[in-house]
Amino acid sequence: MNGKEKKYTELMNNIRALVEGEDDIISKMSTIACEIFHEFDHMNWVGFYRRTGERTLKVGPYQGGHGCLVIDFDRGVCGRCAREQKVQIENDVTKLPYHIACSSETRSEIVLPVIKNGELIAVFDIDSLIPDAFDETDEKYLTEIAGLI
Ligand code: SME
Repeated sequence: MNGKEKKYTELMNNIRALVEGEDDIISKMSTIACEIFHEFDHMNWVGFYRRTGERTLKVGPYQGGHGCLVIDFDRGVCGRCAREQKVQIENDVTKLPYHIACSSETRSEIVLPVIKNGELIAVFDIDSLIPDAFDETDEKYLTEIAGLI
C-alpha cells in the first residue's frame, strides 16, 4: 500500500465513523469536504455541486477558495461529469478550453458523479494546485466516499 492509499484508507475509516447513522445529505457532504480538504495539502477546493434542476448544478458544501454558484450541464468539467455521469480526471486544466477556472492556481481536477437511487443528485469536485494530481487510486477511494452520501 503506497502513501496515498494509506491516507485514503485512514480517511475512509474516519469519514465512515463520522457519518455513520446520519441521513442528512448536506451534513454528510460538509463532513466529507472538510475531512478530505484538511488531509491533502495540494487540494485547493473540495466540495459538491448539487443538482437543483434538470440541467442545473448549484454550489453545495465545500472547503477552499471561491466557487462559482451555478453551473449549467453544458459548462465546465462539472457539467460534463453531470451529462456523462462518469468520473472526469483532468491532468492539466490550463489546456482545457471548457474548464471553468474558479481559481487561476488550479492545475488539475477530478469530478465524480454522486448517484442516489439511480438519479444524479450532485457532482463531487476536487481541485489541486499541482498538475497530474489525480489517478485511479483517487478515483477508487473518492467513489467509495461519494457512495456514503
Ligand atoms: N472547475 C470546475 C468549476 C468548479 S470550481 O473549480 C470550484 C469546472 O470546470 O466545472
